[in-house]
Amino acid sequence: MAKEKIILTGDRPTGRLHIGHYVGSLKRRVELQNSGLYDKIFIFIADAQALTDNMENPEKVRQNVIEVALDYLSVGLDPSRSTIFIQSQIPELCELTFYYMDLVTVSRLQRNPTVKTEIQMRNFEASIPVGFFTYPISQAADITAFKATTVPVGEDQEPMIEQAREIVRRFNYIYGETLVEPEILLPDKAACMRLPGTDGKAKMSKSLGNCIYLSDSADEVQKKIRSMYTDPDHLRVQDPGKVEGNTVFTYLDAFCCPEHFGRYLPEYANLDELKAHYRRGGLGDVKVKKFLTAIMQEELEPIRNRRKEFEKDIPAIYDMLREGCEKAREAAAATLDEVRRAMKINYFDDKELIAEQARKYRGEVQG
Ligand code: TRP
Repeated sequence: MAKEKIILTGDRPTGRLHIGHYVGSLKRRVELQNSGLYDKIFIFIADAQALTDNMENPEKVRQNVIEVALDYLSVGLDPSRSTIFIQSQIPELCELTFYYMDLVTVSRLQRNPTVKTEIQMRNFEASIPVGFFTYPISQAADITAFKATTVPVGEDQEPMIEQAREIVRRFNYIYGETLVEPEILLPDKAACMRLPGTDGKAKMSKSLGNCIYLSDSADEVQKKIRSMYTDPDHLRVQDPGKVEGNTVFTYLDAFCCPEHFGRYLPEYANLDELKAHYRRGGLGDVKVKKFLTAIMQEELEPIRNRRKEFEKDIPAIYDMLREGCEKAREAAAATLDEVRRAMKINYFDDKELIAEQARKYRGEVQG
């Protein structure tokens, strides 16, 4: 049998999801789901991982589980095709993490660039929680428990996937071929890799208030784009403008396709023409922002409308998640069976081991 193609990915429930999540990963997931090319798809809400740096604020994590689930459903993830579940409900992941911890050194974890910057960002230097420090190991468990072949994530997750691959190789080397090495699947457009905040800052973050959320109203989206950071030296319409580092153009790079011009800005054939005009001078920010607004509303409106529908029956969302957890748990339990067998810690199923020990104590073999 050809190796199954299995997708696994997830998000920390620390807030509603924004358009950075959308272009960086969610949109792709839905395309992959609908492509029919994958045998299984697992999408999960990483509540236990979210606790590793929100231990003071568990209620935030708890409240946001449903927000993320609603965002998932509203972008078009479909529970009949993708198993959507909550990390903490799968105890097998803890067991696997515990075994993987023996395969990773402290210095290897210290070299993880994503963990390094996150530790700085959170001022953890002096007091890193062990759980936070080791979350790349638990993330390897998330991925491998489902035998994922493909992990669609943003580029900041690259070190995590590399760490998972190393663990897989080491496990398989010691215990025999058991686990599957995952591949990362990055967004194909550079602009989608890391969408900046509306203020032009590198990262969208709730605390900076520079995110456009999938659940924002049409009004909020319009306001946020109207006040978006552009080229600070582009003061008058006739001035030449810079496109690089200009958030409106970065967003257009991520969201715009040629058909949008036909619908909303027929004077231009494509984004290159629009950029050229902006650079030359004579094109005002307001016009470009209006164009971006039209594109964003077109993309976000169906998402917003679907969310409204799903919000009407919250208990049904929890039911969906419960079913997802049950299915996910079955898959993880099957892998754990194999892992325990490979590690030979399945003592009670191992008739040979019991017979061998019995022979030893009858003096039939040298102990
Ligand atoms: N670390 C990821 C994030 O912050 C979330 C995550 C946890 C994840 N486990 C995963 C992503 C496994 C992909 C695969 O977004």
